[in-house]
Amino acid sequence: MADLARSFARRTRLRGGDELTAILAGTPPGVLSMTGGFPNAATFPTDELDEIAARLVRDDAAVALQYTPCGGLASVREYLLDRQEQLQGRRPEPAELIVTSGGMECIALMCQSLIDPGDAIVVEAPSYLGALMAFGAAEAKVHGIAMDEDGLLVDALAERLDAGLRPKFVYAIPEYQNPTGRTLSLRRRHELVELCRRHGVLIFEDIAYRELPFDGTLLPTLWSLAPDVVLQAGTFSKSFFPGVRLGWAAGPADVVAELAAAKQNTDQCAGGLGQRMVEEYGRAGGFERHLPAARALYASHWAALSAALERHMPSGVAWTEPTGGFVCWLTLPEEVDTLALRPAAIAAGVAYVPGPPFHVGDGGRNSLRLSFSQLTEAELDTAVGRLAGPLRAGVLI
Ligand SMILES: Cc1ncc(COP(=O)(O)O)c(C=O)c1O
Repeated sequence: MADLARSFARRTRLRGGDELTAILAGTPPGVLSMTGGFPNAATFPTDELDEIAARLVRDDAAVALQYTPCGGLASVREYLLDRQEQLQGRRPEPAELIVTSGGMECIALMCQSLIDPGDAIVVEAPSYLGALMAFGAAEAKVHGIAMDEDGLLVDALAERLDAGLRPKFVYAIPEYQNPTGRTLSLRRRHELVELCRRHGVLIFEDIAYRELPFDGTLLPTLWSLAPDVVLQAGTFSKSFFPGVRLGWAAGPADVVAELAAAKQNTDQCAGGLGQRMVEEYGRAGGFERHLPAARALYASHWAALSAALERHMPSGVAWTEPTGGFVCWLTLPEEVDTLALRPAAIAAGVAYVPGPPFHVGDGGRNSLRLSFSQLTEAELDTAVGRLAGPLRAGVLI
């Protein structure tokens, strides 16, 4: 048989090892999975989608089912400009925004547009796995900066920049960060934009979970504080549904123009049907009507997980206290290896994501991520109860 692997590009070997593939693979039947950062399907507004999709196909097929301009349909762009103004207090100029096929595409476009092999970039440590994989495949030299309960340690970043580090950008997830669930404090937001402005470094702000605060309150986005040095990636995956594959990039016009040019080389345009569905749903007040229920659902899931952790976790285990989003981060005693413990947890009927893949280089061995978006409240309690046995054994090793 032909050895087709010989034809694969060098970058295919930069994507992460078998370990990662195993982690991301499905879990066996009967195992309660706390791995995927997926929205809960109960939040999908199916009745309204049913009506909107039928109406668009019937009345607007020439637009909704057609190719669209690379930067997005004019009416959808107008809606997104209005929405930025309404939710973030600043209206981008038309040249400062494009429609993307989700947040992940914006990450890929940033890689194509800004990263040459060996270029430095900065991420929070730990950070979003999908972004780390994309940055790795782009052959970036990724530097992790530690976090605390208030998010990225801006002082630690300042030290690195003062010492001469020149990253192409600083990638940050300010709200309910994936994988820690932490939120960057207001003071740190101001410090971060001032620091990056001073050094002429672009901030790449990923607001994937921003619209899911448990209590509805929000801090200003980095982009609204410093549109001159922040490129924001937004997505409708968590607030609408991921199948729509729709998001936006907002930022300095010259960066946005490069992203649009790169998009010509990828999918050329985001799907028209999804764009028009977001617009119709949004203009009719769908987000305002439905998001409160989604926020309440995730808040009560977190309350159930938090209570279960209090009830079942052995001493020596610490966890973050997210105020929104889908995930929580556990830190175990130094000697515990969450990768090695994973098979025992699966055997006990629960799956989590071990900490190391969220780190560049070493780190995260004694950490793990739990997602609380999908299991029911009763399942969350059972899952944490199942986790306690292997963790206790691991703590004692
Ligand atoms: C932090 C973060 N950014 C971006 C994404 C990608 O989202 P999208 O579905 O819009 O590509 C995710 C998905 O889980 C995420 O967690």
